[in-house]
Amino acid sequence: MTTDVQAHDCAMLERAARLALRGHGEAEPNPSVGCVIADARGRVVGEGRTRRPGGAHGEIVALRQAGSAARGGIAWTTLEPCNHHGRTPPCVDALIEAGIARLVVGSIETNAVASGGIARLREAGIDVEIRSDVDAVRRLHIGFHRRISTGRPWVVAKWAETFDGALATPPGVSPWISGRRSLRMVHRERGRVDAILTGIGTVIADDPRLDARDVRQRRTARRVVVDPDLQFPTDAAMLTTPGGEVIVACRPDAARSNPDAVHRLEAAGARVLPVEGPDDETLRGRFGGERLARLLRRLAEQDGVATVLTECGPGLLQSLFGADLVDAAVVFTAPATGPTGLHPSHRPRPRDLLAAAGFETVWSGHRGPDTARWSQRVG
Ligand SMILES: NC(=O)c1ccc[n+]([C@@H]2O[C@H](COP(=O)([O-])OP(=O)(O)OC[C@H]3O[C@@H](n4cnc5c(N)ncnc54)[C@H](OP(=O)(O)O)[C@@H]3O)[C@@H](O)[C@H]2O)c1
Repeated sequence: MTTDVQAHDCAMLERAARLALRGHGEAEPNPSVGCVIADARGRVVGEGRTRRPGGAHGEIVALRQAGSAARGGIAWTTLEPCNHHGRTPPCVDALIEAGIARLVVGSIETNAVASGGIARLREAGIDVEIRSDVDAVRRLHIGFHRRISTGRPWVVAKWAETFDGALATPPGVSPWISGRRSLRMVHRERGRVDAILTGIGTVIADDPRLDARDVRQRRTARRVVVDPDLQFPTDAAMLTTPGGEVIVACRPDAARSNPDAVHRLEAAGARVLPVEGPDDETLRGRFGGERLARLLRRLAEQDGVATVLTECGPGLLQSLFGADLVDAAVVFTAPATGPTGLHPSHRPRPRDLLAAAGFETVWSGHRGPDTARWSQRVG
């Protein structure tokens, strides 16, 4: 294969990945797959990305756009086309029927239920090429592959920090660290994830609503609070603000020994979720790493949660990083304008934990006066 063809394949897979990235918040729990189709003369005649669950996959959207021009053409798809009847028929059947001559695949399907597409396409005489070295595709699908291999959601840690890494301001200084434009980006992300996770420390300090305001919402996130001892106040703003279900995750012993608190919270509209841990008999207080992991797996299994945005303080963040439960981070850093809220006891700072995690930066830019950086695990 000539380097020209290789470079062209790479460019087309990047184009498909860019397209698919726009499907974040729409396609999950399915992977957001991007597909570009060229006719036999090399002209792009169709492109598409996966729509909401139950809707068309990227390949189907692109094939519909291409129509008969797909015959004898090339398709570039970010993920191996599915080979099973789920809510939609197999994409491999549609590609074969459309007469695609060559297919370039950017990533191999890891979900056993849907795999086997490449073998079927080759049996049908289609020339299939696998190109798993395109960074944009690797970054696009890492969340999906990770969810399949761990059984838990993809977790994005979000925080706003002062120029020197504090997550709170000192008394007498405005508690708002990031600006209006950063906040807007946060609200947009809230409207694209399945759950927002915070700790009881943040609820008590800030009484946040954790809803998505003034943005177009693709989904309504559940609001999950790690509250080992059931301290969640029944007059918390979350319970009176329209939005996703409020789930209070506690220790089983706290729920058993305090049925009144459970009853009050349920009467106020929350769901109390006792989460078992390996240390149930021996430890009191905070959730250990294994219990946090179990909480995340429960959310995936019982509530279909594929993506989580954390909006907690340094306490819970430290435990999540410590248990390797953070997959990506979106951090807003304010300019140096005044006194810092950083206390020596606040170390390691979340930014130190992030640096130690060795994530790669996938995007950075400015939101008003703030610097914003999106990073994620490499593999
Ligand atoms: N800048 C930002 O982006 C941002 C975002 C959110 C909050 N904040 C600020 O952060 C501060 C609150 O910090 P925080 O650390 O107390 O809040 P947090 O991390 O949201 O919650 C910590 C609480 O969760 C409980 N918890 C249960 N399991 C835990 C675990 N494994 N690890 C850690 N905590 C666990 C702890 O309860 P026990 O102590 O009872 O064990 C602790 O009180 C506030 O000043 C708030 O304004 C800043």
